[in-house]
Amino acid sequence: MVGISQNFGFSERFLCGGTLISSRYVISAAHCFKTSNKPVSSSVYTFRVGSHTLKDGTKYDVEDVIVHERYQPSQNYHDIAVLKVKGEVSLNDKVKPVCLPKPSFVGQDFKGREVTVTGWGDTFYGGTRSKVLQQVSIPVVSNKECNNSYSKLALSKYPQSITRGQICAGLSEGDKDACQGDSGGPLVLEESGRWTLVGIVSFGLNCAEPGYPGVYTRVSHYIRWIAANTDLGE
Ligand code: ARG
Repeated sequence: MVGISQNFGFSERFLCGGTLISSRYVISAAHCFKTSNKPVSSSVYTFRVGSHTLKDGTKYDVEDVIVHERYQPSQNYHDIAVLKVKGEVSLNDKVKPVCLPKPSFVGQDFKGREVTVTGWGDTFYGGTRSKVLQQVSIPVVSNKECNNSYSKLALSKYPQSITRGQICAGLSEGDKDACQGDSGGPLVLEESGRWTLVGIVSFGLNCAEPGYPGVYTRVSHYIRWIAANTDLGE
């Protein structure tokens, strides 16, 4: 996975997680970049690959940030963005692109399957960023169950319902989840050594709350959008 930063002069401030999908593209969440109606300026972003702490690894510049055209700031639908790398990321044993979902994954809900989320985000709600990369495995929760939870909340901050473009994961007792700062990062499913990106960290009610799984952008729903906005064929 990659760590994306926003740069102000000489200072590099960690912003979000992301995932390499080829040597030229990183996938992340729209809300990391689009916080107002202003156009996104790609030149302020950099990202690091092969990092354990937020300061190590190899740094790359961003040539372009493509935010999903139907993403609306303050809403969580279509929370997906692609960053085009300036130049090319040099790949090796430790720096490899993730697999995108195969066509057979489209329409599968993955309910109960163990998936893994990683990031440098807060280690508890209201806490601080983790100094080192963390990972946790959690089961996928069906959209129906996830929707039952989130539709109980009357907060306008949360969407009216969990849509087909989203996937949820977490334990019913809470305890294990992504948190602030993990946004844009990967939710992956491993099948005989093949790691597929099934989700992108999007939002949740606080972090690791019992009954409220984390909500992720469902990558299999956006395969066409990804193909149309990168040079990766379907
Ligand atoms: N929106 C958050 C961020 O900007 C991610 C929150 C994920 N929360 C959760 N409970 N899974 O980092």
